[in-house]
Amino acid sequence: MTLAHLEVVDLRNILAIKFDPLLVGFNFIYGPNGSGKTSILEAIYYLSRGRSFRSSAISRIIRRDTHKFRVFAQVRVSEDHDFPVGIERPLQGDLKIRIAGKDVHSTAELADLIPVQLINSHCYNLLDAGPSFRRKFLDWGVFYLNPAFLRVWRDYGLALKQRNAALRNHRSPKELDSWSKELASHAVQLNQFRQNYIEQFIPLFITTLASLLNISGLEITYQAGWDESQDFYELLSSNYEKDTQAGHTQFGPHRADLKITINKISAKDILSRGQQKLFVCAMMLAQGALLQSSANKKPIYLIDDLPAELDRVSRSDLMALLSKQETQIFVTAVEQSALSDSLSMVPVKMFHVEHGNLTEVTRVSKMWSDKA
Ligand SMILES: Nc1ncnc2c1ncn2[C@@H]1O[C@H](COP(=O)(O)OP(=O)(O)OP(=O)(O)O)[C@@H](O)[C@H]1O
Ligand SMILES: [Mg+2]
Repeated sequence: MTLAHLEVVDLRNILAIKFDPLLVGFNFIYGPNGSGKTSILEAIYYLSRGRSFRSSAISRIIRRDTHKFRVFAQVRVSEDHDFPVGIERPLQGDLKIRIAGKDVHSTAELADLIPVQLINSHCYNLLDAGPSFRRKFLDWGVFYLNPAFLRVWRDYGLALKQRNAALRNHRSPKELDSWSKELASHAVQLNQFRQNYIEQFIPLFITTLASLLNISGLEITYQAGWDESQDFYELLSSNYEKDTQAGHTQFGPHRADLKITINKISAKDILSRGQQKLFVCAMMLAQGALLQSSANKKPIYLIDDLPAELDRVSRSDLMALLSKQETQIFVTAVEQSALSDSLSMVPVKMFHVEHGNLTEVTRVSKMWSDKA
């Protein structure tokens, strides 16, 4: 899926913008600090996930002194088939979603329709923050490849909540045991989905990474969240007392992680900042490639401040790799010149943003491609 047309109204400093992005290739959005570049990516992200990557407080996102924001897109399914997708979020009340003229009540439907991968300054969290970031990354991929995942993931979360409540409230061993049984059945499935995914992901990731970084001694290990040589239900039963003392379930898929090491040292402790960015980009791109090959879906990439932390060669390598994915990409940068070398080699539409207004800059783009 790609966005053939996009409209954003009353989001951050954007009063109203409309534009027709390039369907396959780079949409390069540049402009000074505070002009609204990240806000445009935020609008696209909201359209996919039904939430922001910057703020959970809706009052921060809606343009000052207004009461709701809107994002609308014509989503291109095939050459001769578009359909409308719109979201509206008022200050008071719930998110409204309309897909092809029908009201929809689940953000999972949006996510399923418009897969979006975001690369921004928080992407380092994938390497240097806690396991929950890596679990989210993993689950994003599993969600698209396995239609049963969402139900199992939700059921597991629900059973975990109930078991933890039973532990805290010192419920009878019989009641606790029924939650343990339920938890174990979902845990085994969830773990299987994640394991299958990671088996497909790792070889793709290694190939992708090789075109960005030269790294030897890399190891990625999936950790299930418990010692898998043990039956999970039996483990829960034998940990009954320790779990009661802790007041929560100590082992399970909610503790899963990806351990990433280079020559046995944690990747975050050995890679430079720029290398970390390339590493994380390779993870996102491999995930996108897997989505294309296994689920026949193309993700839309949102890359905020692509040039940050990267030298000229790394920028070009990354752009070349992105363009090979043959998908829709939105890239921002402060300076137009920051990507001029790389952009002359790839399909691009350029947009200048200032004070929340967006203008297409076609002539400069042509001049660059003529030069190439
Ligand atoms: N709710 C709001 N209403 C109006 N303006 C807002 C609101 N929230 C943020 N802004 C302003 O919107 C502008 C756009 O912010 P945005 O983060 O999109 O800029 P940017 O172009 O990405 O800048 P940078 O290059 O510094 O990352 C900023 O000037 C900010 O102060
Ligand atoms: Mg920004």
